[in-house]
Amino acid sequence: MGIIQWSDRFATGDKSVDEQHKELFRLVNKLHDAMKQGKGKEHTVPTIKALAAYVVKHFAAEEALMERSKYPGLAQHRKIHEDLTGKVGVLLADAQAGKNIFTTELSHFLADWLRNHIEGTDQKMVAWVTSNSTARAAPV
Ligand SMILES: [Fe+2]
Repeated sequence: MGIIQWSDRFATGDKSVDEQHKELFRLVNKLHDAMKQGKGKEHTVPTIKALAAYVVKHFAAEEALMERSKYPGLAQHRKIHEDLTGKVGVLLADAQAGKNIFTTELSHFLADWLRNHIEGTDQKMVAWVTSNSTARAAPV
């Protein structure tokens, strides 16, 4: 059982965005399970590295969608993305430097951030995009 489960309440209306969110859920669950099972850094560091890389690709896909559709909330939404990208980058750097960042608080933070961002920010964005343009997100 993971820390975050997909359900229809997270659906945005854009198939690619939803697929990318599912992959983020999978990576957060993988990180959480590795930490819970007390797996060593050889498991946790590659997982947080994969998560950091996928976060960057996914945010780029969303931002391209917002640019193509001329979404008026782009700058604000991008700032929220940059904030998380920065946090995940620090986590990865700390993990690679051998610091012990792997606590269940971290996976709870990531899971809460994703839930809140999807329900509070992404759904609003996709609703606007789909009713104001024909743009759809690219798969990642
Ligand atoms: Fe977003």
